Formats: sequence, structure tokens, C-alpha cells
Amino acid sequence: MKSPLETIRWQGEASGTLTLIDQTLLPLEIKELDCHDVESVWEAIKQLRVRGAPAIGIAAAYGLVLGLQDVAMKDSAEFMARLDELHAFLASSRPTAVNLFWALDRMRRRATQLASQPSGKVIHLALLEEARAIHDEDRQLCRAIGKHGSPLIAAGSGILTHCNAGGLATAEYGTALSIMFTCQDEGKPIHVFVDETRPLLQGARLTAFELVQRGIRATLICDSMAAQVMREGKVQAVIVGADRITANGDTANKIGTYSVATLAKAHGIPFYVAAPTTTFDLTLETGEGIPIEQRSGTEITHGFGRQTAPAGVEVYNPAFDVTPAELITGIVTERGVISPVTRDNVVALVAPALAT
Ligand code: MRU
Repeated sequence: MKSPLETIRWQGEASGTLTLIDQTLLPLEIKELDCHDVESVWEAIKQLRVRGAPAIGIAAAYGLVLGLQDVAMKDSAEFMARLDELHAFLASSRPTAVNLFWALDRMRRRATQLASQPSGKVIHLALLEEARAIHDEDRQLCRAIGKHGSPLIAAGSGILTHCNAGGLATAEYGTALSIMFTCQDEGKPIHVFVDETRPLLQGARLTAFELVQRGIRATLICDSMAAQVMREGKVQAVIVGADRITANGDTANKIGTYSVATLAKAHGIPFYVAAPTTTFDLTLETGEGIPIEQRSGTEITHGFGRQTAPAGVEVYNPAFDVTPAELITGIVTERGVISPVTRDNVVALVAPALAT
């Protein structure tokens, strides 16, 4: 493995393999998973072996390429029909992060542009290039988010984050964590408070792992401790990622984010969302339209192999919540910071990016 944080890697040419870090094994094991077919990519997304909004978009784009490998290359009509089936299949893996749908739609647009080609092989190669472009562009978006976000953070700040919006959730470097890594690159000391992020512990297992790896001061807390840590004056800013942001700025992110935003408001602490424009869904006016993924209750009753609740108890396990725009101080994108978070400001910054 070239780097322990090479979240997603394509090996080979058009007939290749998608290699992912299996994030369910972190932080104890850094193990790669080779996907040779679209079914294994779907399973990896569903089971959160690859997770985080931009990362699942990239994985799905490569998943389409894998799924098209065996299609008769001579018949472009058959090729396009199969592409539609695969698009629907991959889109059924997880409902909330819009990057998944954005990436799949972009792949289909590219194929449609080439649909008059006599051979599916030409389209297949072009789709691999498109998936690689989505992957490479995400690297650049993440770096730019870090550059725009770092000036918002004063040296010596305590920063609270929730879930994992780091290199593991993106091509590399992350969104929320990109801001922290940029502070570090600039020699600005920070101290990150990491919510463990129940029930699947993306904060404890993944964010703490990334911060420790990079030598950034990190303190792990249970989600329920955030209010106390804020009251003690240890937090000067909150920065989180996003799975889908609507036209008015409402933001879906990992369950518990809304609680953190409410606490930040109560303590007068700025609350920032860091996300590329590929995470915006301008077809939805408000967060009420965002589909919230419901996951198995066993993630709560049998977390990490041990039963911690009585058999027969009812469980509710939404994987995401929506933070209303009015609780968000600013949204840091690769094109700059949206603040205040109003519909006009969101659309002015994001619409031109999504039109390209
Ligand atoms: O269920 P997950 O682990 O995929 O949830 C991920 C998050 O909520 C992240 O904060 C979000 O996708 C942003 S990743 C840059």
C-alpha cells in the first residue's frame, strides 16, 4: 500500500480493480479490499467499508466502470441499457449523501454524449477517464476547502468535530479535517475535540485515527460530553462535514450534528460546515426533502459484537439529521465561504459550479 490513507485506488486500465481501505476494520487493522465487480462495490458502500459523501460518489463511479466490463462492447445500445441498470443499482446503496447521485449522473451524462459511438468499448474507456477525473477533482476540492477554511480559525483554538470528514471520507485530506490539516501545515496550533459519534464510532475509529496519524492534538469525548466541554470554554469553533445541503443551506450530516449545532448556538460558538459544491442539492429547497437513511437497530443493540440492550426493545436508528441553516455560521466550499447562510448566497456560489 502506498499510503495508509489511500482511501480509494483504481488499479489497471479499463479492466481493472477498485481497491478500498475497509473502514469497518479501522483503527485496529489497515486492510485493503479488492472489488472486482459492481456487487462488491454496492456491498462496500452499504456496509460502510467505504463511507463519507465524496468517497461513496467516487467509489460508485468506479463501480459503474466495473459493472460495464463484461457488457458486449460491440453494441452501444446494450451498453447504455446496462449502464442505466447499474446506475439504479448503485443508487440504491445509500439514500442521503447526494454525492453518490451526483457522480452517477455525471457518469451517465458522459456516456450519453458518446452514445452514438459504434462500440461500447470507446464509451467504457471514456467512463474510466471520467471516474478518474471525479477522483482527482475531489483531491483539489478538498485542498481548496482547507485554504478557505483555515483563516476562520485562530491559533490555539479548540475545535469540535463530529463523525469523520477526513481523508477517509474523500479522495484525500477531507473537508472538515482539511481545514485542520491546513492549520497544521501553516504552523497554527489547534486542539481537536472528537465526538466519538454513536452508534458506529466514525469519530473514535476514523477521525481520531487520522488526527493522531498526523500528530494533531486530539481529545476523544463521548457525544454526550460536548455541552460540558463547550461550557468549560474549551471549544472556539465547531467544524463538520455534510452529506447533502439544500438551496436554503439546511444541511444533512451524521446523526448528532444537529445537537452539536444547537449546543454551539447556546454557547455562542461559531458552527461551520465544510463541503464541496458536489454536496449541494439545489433541486431541494429545504432540508425537509432530504431522504434520511434508516439503518438496522442492531447497530445500536449489538454494537461491535456485544449485546447492550434487552431483546425485544424497539430501536430507532436514523443515520443522519438535518441542521437548519439558521444554526450554521458559514459553509466552507472550494469556491469560498458562504456566510451568512441564505438562499441567495448559496445559489450565487453553488449554481455556477453545478452547471459546469
Ligand atoms: O455514515 P457515514 O460514515 O457515511 O457518514 C459520513 C458523514 O456524515 C460525513 O460527515 C459526511 O459524509 C461528510 S464526509 C466529507
